[in-house]
Amino acid sequence: MIILPIIKENIAKNCHPIGLQKTVQRQIDFIETAQTINGPKKVLVIGASSGYGLASRIALSFGGGADTIGISFEKGPSEKGVGTAGWYNNIHFKQAAERKGLIAKNFIGDAFSDTMREQVIDFVRAEFGGKIDMIVYSLAAGVRTAPDGVKYCSTLGVKGDEFSGQSFNLETQSLCTQTLSPVSDQQLQDTVKVMGGEDWKLWIDTLTQADVLAEGFKTVAYSYIGPESTYPLYKDGSLGAAKEHLHATADQLNTQLTRINGEAYVAVCKALVTKASAYIPVFPLYITLLYQVMKEKRLHETCIEQMHRLMFTRLYPALGPVVADASRLIRIDDWELRSDVQTAVEAYRKQITAENFKEIGDFAGYLEEFNALNGFGFDDVDYQAKVSLEELLQMEC
Ligand code: NAI
Repeated sequence: MIILPIIKENIAKNCHPIGLQKTVQRQIDFIETAQTINGPKKVLVIGASSGYGLASRIALSFGGGADTIGISFEKGPSEKGVGTAGWYNNIHFKQAAERKGLIAKNFIGDAFSDTMREQVIDFVRAEFGGKIDMIVYSLAAGVRTAPDGVKYCSTLGVKGDEFSGQSFNLETQSLCTQTLSPVSDQQLQDTVKVMGGEDWKLWIDTLTQADVLAEGFKTVAYSYIGPESTYPLYKDGSLGAAKEHLHATADQLNTQLTRINGEAYVAVCKALVTKASAYIPVFPLYITLLYQVMKEKRLHETCIEQMHRLMFTRLYPALGPVVADASRLIRIDDWELRSDVQTAVEAYRKQITAENFKEIGDFAGYLEEFNALNGFGFDDVDYQAKVSLEELLQMEC
């Protein structure tokens, strides 16, 4: 089959398995030329197949020599289709890590389930040396079935009045208005159940009970706060409520972990193009403006640069303790939130029209990163060449 990009609204409907090898390798290449991370050696990444989770895994393996276990919810190839990008990212990561002599175990399935926790514990005991010294919690999910069988769905919405803002449709490449509706109390609570800290805590509690967390263990989960212009759609909305819960959970876990000299943190990251962020109404246009300004100021980072900076300068600095703010949040959104950056973003926003939005913001950069997430846009991949389903089926995840 010949695989070409298909985008429906702001969602990619297919991916290119060979192109994805380039996406993963590009991140590995960056890390291999960056400063070495004096970090953990046995790492579990929950949400490991794309975005910040994949970049964390690459940074810690190729920048610090860590063995890793990665959990993700992905689909392999079948007669129905090529599968998801994360499936191939897992494969390409595993192959590259194993060539380096590192353990790279992929678990595909539901990270919210007790079954997954049991499988991971069994693997840690039998084949991973018995202890884990770091857990990265990087899930972005719309649905969670809790261990008691109750299913919760998250809703992207606002707490007060409806909020509308400009964004674009990636499929038609046109400017549009997107609206976030108010969420009910129930929807708010359910969003917190999916994207808050409850499941993170379940992981830490279960692995503590199983005695598989090493002395000095650390855990980190990822959050977003953003500038004031995005407060209505994120910080003050349903996702922000879930992140507040995540922040409170970090403090709770941090206290709990003192018994093993462990620590728990939330890292507040920069807004950038991932499968999850493309889905948030109004957010993509902000990202193009931010990219434009940060590139002009030579401050631009993608997931891999962010995760290297997080690990190298904040979580595992060469000297001294973890670097966090007064609320114990690790701020690697610091460059995004610089006042000169945000002033320039807002100045660009005022100039936007339906005709010029691609030139005012870095639409080309957004599209390039979006395509790369799905394995497209690489000059050295022949997208007209046939890809064999038989060969894809033989690739071991
Ligand atoms: P992503 O969509 O690239 O990755 C999400 C990961 O979660 C994938 O590996 C996916 O397979 C996994 N996943 C989802 N449901 C699962 C399930 N039930 N079981 C197992 N795995 C599952 O997302 P992204 O953007 O990297 O987000 C990760 C975290 O970073 C989220 O907490 C997000 O809020 C946060 N973040 C993202 C920012 C952005 O601009 N993209 C900015 C700041 C924070």
